[in-house]
Amino acid sequence: MPETPVIYVLNGPNLNLLGVREPEIYGYETLADVQALCEGAADGARIVFHQSNHEGQLVDWVQEARTEASAVILNPAAYGHTSVALLDALKTLSIPIVECHLSNPASRERFRHKTYVSLVATGVISGFGAHGYTLAVTAALNLIRERAAAAARSSKV
Ligand code: DQA
Repeated sequence: MPETPVIYVLNGPNLNLLGVREPEIYGYETLADVQALCEGAADGARIVFHQSNHEGQLVDWVQEARTEASAVILNPAAYGHTSVALLDALKTLSIPIVECHLSNPASRERFRHKTYVSLVATGVISGFGAHGYTLAVTAALNLIRERAAAAARSSKV
């Protein structure tokens, strides 16, 4: 794990249109606002923030996170409901994975009720709008610190 914690925040398709896309569901904050929220909650960790509409690009970033990150926060957007490729990439990680959704997909259409990402996520945050990303960063930091403390304990015995 790197000295300064590095948290990858990855965002899937259509989230580049945050603020103008169905704002009654996803809110009026833009993706730049969301990035600022993540950086504001980082508490010294480095935030690597990306968005792509392309499944393969998201897979590449997840693979990069395998060696470069201490935790991943992922809003897979629609790919969460469809992408086995993303699931397989996430399965290669041994760091915490926080799945984050602006809306609460469980209260929406049936096809949104399940995500592949949930199968491997350490935890899921949904339904709190952009604020959910602040919660996700806090959760990721907690998980990173817990793991570091556990590793320090086991190196003493
Ligand atoms: C979303 C929920 C998904 O069902 C949807 O496809 C999105 C955004 C959310 O953040 O609420 O694009 O991940």
